[in-house]
Amino acid sequence: MGNSKKIFEPIEINGMKLKNRISFAPMLNMPRELDFGPNDQTAQWLEERAKGGTALIMTGTFLPIHPLMPNGPERFGKLAEAVHAHDAKLGVQLSGPGPMLGAGPSAHPYPDERHPKQSIFEYMMGTISPIPGVEKVTEFTVNDIEQTRDAFAMAVKALKDAGVDCVELHCAHGGATLFCSFISPFYNRREDEYGGNWENRLRFPIDTLKKTREAVGENYPLLVRLSADELLGKEGITLEDTLNIIVPAMEKAGADCLDVSQGSILHSPEGITIPLYYPRGCYIHYAEAVKKVTGLPVIGVGRIVDLDMAEKFLREEKADLIFLARQLTSDPETPKKYYEGRLEDIRKCIGCMEGCGTPCAINYDIGTDSVPITTMRRELLALPKKIPLTPADKPREILVIGGGVAGMEAARVCALRGHSVTLMEKGPQLGGTVAALALDPPAAEFANIVAYLGVQMRKLEVDVHVCRQVGPVDIEKINPDAVIMATGASLKMPKVAGDKPGVMDHIEALKNRAGIGPQVVIWGLMYGAELAISLAEEGKDVTLIGETGEKTLAAHAVDTRRWWIVKKLVDFNAVRVRPESIKLSNPKVLYHTRVEDITPGEISIVNKQGNKKVLPYDTLIISRGRKKNDSLFEQLKGKAPEIYKIGDCAAAGNILKAIWSANDVARKI
Ligand SMILES: Cc1cc2nc3c(=O)[nH]c(=O)nc-3n(C[C@H](O)[C@H](O)[C@H](O)COP(=O)(O)O)c2cc1C
Repeated sequence: MGNSKKIFEPIEINGMKLKNRISFAPMLNMPRELDFGPNDQTAQWLEERAKGGTALIMTGTFLPIHPLMPNGPERFGKLAEAVHAHDAKLGVQLSGPGPMLGAGPSAHPYPDERHPKQSIFEYMMGTISPIPGVEKVTEFTVNDIEQTRDAFAMAVKALKDAGVDCVELHCAHGGATLFCSFISPFYNRREDEYGGNWENRLRFPIDTLKKTREAVGENYPLLVRLSADELLGKEGITLEDTLNIIVPAMEKAGADCLDVSQGSILHSPEGITIPLYYPRGCYIHYAEAVKKVTGLPVIGVGRIVDLDMAEKFLREEKADLIFLARQLTSDPETPKKYYEGRLEDIRKCIGCMEGCGTPCAINYDIGTDSVPITTMRRELLALPKKIPLTPADKPREILVIGGGVAGMEAARVCALRGHSVTLMEKGPQLGGTVAALALDPPAAEFANIVAYLGVQMRKLEVDVHVCRQVGPVDIEKINPDAVIMATGASLKMPKVAGDKPGVMDHIEALKNRAGIGPQVVIWGLMYGAELAISLAEEGKDVTLIGETGEKTLAAHAVDTRRWWIVKKLVDFNAVRVRPESIKLSNPKVLYHTRVEDITPGEISIVNKQGNKKVLPYDTLIISRGRKKNDSLFEQLKGKAPEIYKIGDCAAAGNILKAIWSANDVARKI
């Protein structure tokens, strides 16, 4: 299938011949050494993607000191060798620390810091400083600028000599990087020759690019990553600035290719690590606009998980190359499978942000567990030590009870290892809670993992039974060698809710959306917040209530997923973040609210001050805690030689935990 596709046409960037148009976008959290430089595991990680058919493998950000370390060139040379073995090219992304890491064009305070809650870090981590431990930004002196400029040029030359095929200067993502923060009117408040007007603010990155060009000569590809729009309104870099000023300046200074990203990591990270709520490929119009004003090859990026979409963007001349980041972590073989027409075997990224990189929520096999950085991250996420996938010593009969994502993954892995697997699900469908959550349109991407696991189970001949409740007697009849319990968790229904018309739990509501009336009260500030937004956007009149405060709002959701939710529900006084606040007036959110009584059609509440109120409802949705469905586990004890619990049935958690706990058991049996 691959041959006629534009995506598989070669392309050349200043002498670097790429066999196709698919590239791996930079991802910071790849395996690294404690000094943040590369090591053998980094090489293995990048090689995995090269092996999967990607033409250009870009590393995550490195600092220019890394290639200049005594053994630096050798370390980067090994990365290049690993990637070259698969007919791919290696690019290294170089960056300098920006305000996020305590250094930048100007010292604090930035204007937004006088308005709390405007940066993702303040909101997520309860600190106003960019990241914990960084209390203030030190202003770069002219001497620092000149030294860094020279170090960049030397570092790129060292990388070239080490066999690296191209280098990308990271000039994107606002406060995350030195160059972007110099370019940005939001971060750069200097009054010397490096601040003030566009020419001055561009001076540092442009001088660096020129100096680098001098160091490496004409025939070496230098890529530049830009935030075409910092998504900070007129106070940051706008698309207009990019098209009229930045692109021509970069082109003139010697850039060979422009990689068009967007956003600033501190204030508009939704432009960078775009959560599942945004449509796929939602920022490609920025690449398209840049392509119209330059003759240089342009890279398009951003929630592109589907290579048919990538193909369409290339054909429509919206970009010349496509960068995929998370899709190549959830499935490094995406290009190969696409080329072979095995679309149903591609494990599509769900945009959950629960792991991202190392580990990935849905790809347990990603990366390695043997380097300090990844081990630390795994420990931080309280995940068990990874177990390699090996054929089973002795094929056995395995019964999986419960067809949610944990049960499906356990069945897939056991079958892959050579066991004979039967899966029994009480309901009519597979996918459990994840499939139910995917019924809510903003979270539809969750269905990707359910579909993938379903196809793989079929291919591996897992014997699947739906509408099949299992009890102790069945176990005696089936007589499996091992039972894996994956019976999930149920939502807790408070006593006061009783069994009243119009009252339903969150999962029932998702499955019975047509039955939700025009006036909705949702009790529960976590998952409930997500549903509140989607019902309100559908035209319902929604009130979200919870006993706790703003700190628990959507606290289940990680990173930019939570950021999307809170930006819609919390008044950020956000004049600075965007020209207009994106806060919705519906749903209303009532914090510190106690429920006193529920009657058909009315819920009585009391606020922190003791004021009582009655809210009428057509539908009351309860979305509070979850309790494990593990009663069957006790009943089955002693009925099978081995019995295990995984997923929510072991401990109610997220998708990452479900997939990891499934592998933790399925790889040991
Ligand atoms: C975990 C993670 C780390 C990232 N690290 C970097 C980085 O080091 N440098 C960079 O320019 N972009 C970085 N990005 C942004 C990606 O390169 C990419 O632009 C973004 O993830 C959108 O692409 P995707 O939807 O295909 O993942 C990172 C993204 C993620 C999710």
